Amino acid sequence: MISHSYLSELFSLDGRVAVVTGGSSGIGRAIAGALAQAGASVVVVARREPELTATVEELTAGGCRAAWVSADLSSRDGVRAAAEQAADAFGEPDILVNSAGINLRPPMGELGEEVWDATMALNLEAPYLLGQRFGPGMAERGFGRIIHVTSQQAHRAFVQSGAYGVSKGALESLARSQAEAWSPHGVTCNTLVPGFVMTPLNVRLSSDPEKVAALAARTMVGRNGLPEDFAGAAVFLAGRASSYVTGQAIFVDGGFSVH
Ligand SMILES: NC(=O)c1ccc[n+]([C@@H]2O[C@H](COP(=O)([O-])OP(=O)(O)OC[C@H]3O[C@@H](n4cnc5c(N)ncnc54)[C@H](OP(=O)(O)O)[C@@H]3O)[C@@H](O)[C@H]2O)c1
Repeated sequence: MISHSYLSELFSLDGRVAVVTGGSSGIGRAIAGALAQAGASVVVVARREPELTATVEELTAGGCRAAWVSADLSSRDGVRAAAEQAADAFGEPDILVNSAGINLRPPMGELGEEVWDATMALNLEAPYLLGQRFGPGMAERGFGRIIHVTSQQAHRAFVQSGAYGVSKGALESLARSQAEAWSPHGVTCNTLVPGFVMTPLNVRLSSDPEKVAALAARTMVGRNGLPEDFAGAAVFLAGRASSYVTGQAIFVDGGFSVH
């Protein structure tokens, strides 16, 4: 016997509003789809309109409620404008997912200020600013979920992590500070930690079959990640079921990090 009301109490996102940055591609797109199918009204935020409209069309064709905002989150003004537009779509969000990210990999000795600044702006400052914009409101309303997408490079050097690893390590620290501030008011803040996932972000690595096989062999499951691997963990972290899980880094990596 399946108790649908029990499952719904734990996992339903009915009536919730979610904002997903980077929701038009890869991991963010899979998370946006998962939250929408679990009942949330979802706003996806990224730059390219064709990808945004395709994502929203797919979701609405499946009976979900979705909207998009085209914005460049690499500037503070861009983030602020995006936040207001995102809140205009369905109201103030209950769930914020920060998945937009870039991974530029010059060797450490050649890592210049431009790459450093661009990486920190999108991977770290945008999640910080969005948290400042939406976190206090969530706390006031007594419910909120902030989910950042970090990386194994928050925990170890990997293929010239450089600025990228630093941004992701700091993002995990940000999640802990946000958790400390807002968990007493019903707002949990956690990170999802991918291993190697086949998405446009790492096309250089994922188009090399030998590297792909070598990385798969480093997992315990025996394959590299797929965006849809994040669906269950995202729905869990976004819903009532995870109300006592906060400040955590949850590895969705097929065992990569413990092998
Ligand atoms: N794939 C992996 O193996 C892996 C591993 C560890 C961590 N991650 C993390 O997972 C997250 C998602 O990565 P992914 O692999 O799904 O990458 P992806 O498929 O390349 O998606 C990146 C998303 O971010 C958006 N984005 C990029 N720059 C932006 C900007 N300036 N302003 C607004 N949006 C921007 C992109 O849309 P537009 O280009 O249209 O703006 C796209 O929607 C990232 O934070 C990444 O660091 C990925």
